[in-house]
Amino acid sequence: MRPKVIIVSEVSIDGKLTLAKGVSSKELMSLMDEDANKYLHQIRDLCDAILVGAETIRTDNPSLTVRYVEGKNPIRVIPTNSLNFPEERNIFNTKKAKTIIVTSQKAYENKKDFVEKLKRKNVEFLICGEDKVDFKNMLEKLYEMNIKSLMVEGGANINWQFIKEDLVDEIHLIVVPVIVGGEDVPTLVGGKGFKSLDNIKRYKVKDTFRLGSQIINIFEKA
Ligand SMILES: NC(=O)c1ccc[n+]([C@@H]2O[C@H](COP(=O)([O-])OP(=O)(O)OC[C@H]3O[C@@H](n4cnc5c(N)ncnc54)[C@H](OP(=O)(O)O)[C@@H]3O)[C@@H](O)[C@H]2O)c1
Repeated sequence: MRPKVIIVSEVSIDGKLTLAKGVSSKELMSLMDEDANKYLHQIRDLCDAILVGAETIRTDNPSLTVRYVEGKNPIRVIPTNSLNFPEERNIFNTKKAKTIIVTSQKAYENKKDFVEKLKRKNVEFLICGEDKVDFKNMLEKLYEMNIKSLMVEGGANINWQFIKEDLVDEIHLIVVPVIVGGEDVPTLVGGKGFKSLDNIKRYKVKDTFRLGSQIINIFEKA
């Protein structure tokens, strides 16, 4: 058993997640109006946990809490094979929300000092795999911890890891009406790509509507 997995992402018309490679998406997200921010935060409130990639933690330093609506903060789940983070990141403040770092046995043992520092801040650890994180195993363990719904908020690499293993039930795109351009700018899904019609992942349109100055597109697994 695994949690229901929902990718929620803010994208430009051309599917970009941010303004340039290695740059925080916070600038692009600043174009989202209040309605869109409320939508995003409502889903955070409805989900038991929220997962983002370690690179997003390094570049964006998000809090991943609920602020635009009244609601509870989801548990923050961050997979990493490197355990390479600056010590001061908002997710390591566990007063408002719980944080679980998911990593491999090897990284956990190699970074013992850093692990101990984070444990003193009440950050929790989940080991899923010997030398790299196994996402299916991670989802099974999260389900056992009573996490029945998981919102995945990017970035491109993490979205690829979930989609390539058929672990995504729904995708919500908040489309901001701007075009960013740029060949190397991250889009919704990174990775190697599927490269053939036999291998691409198929979704059905579940809903589409206008919200303030954005379009919301919702897809579900076909
Ligand atoms: N528009 C939006 O809604 C939105 C949302 C989120 C992020 N973003 C943007 O997306 C960009 C970051 O995306 P990104 O694709 O570069 O990185 P990312 O998806 O945020 O994170 C990638 C990292 O996740 C960890 N990871 C991936 N697969 C793993 C596995 N199987 N096991 C363990 N750890 C794994 C690795 O961390 P380690 O290197 O530590 O091993 C990897 O480097 C930023 O510019 C950010 O601003 C945009």
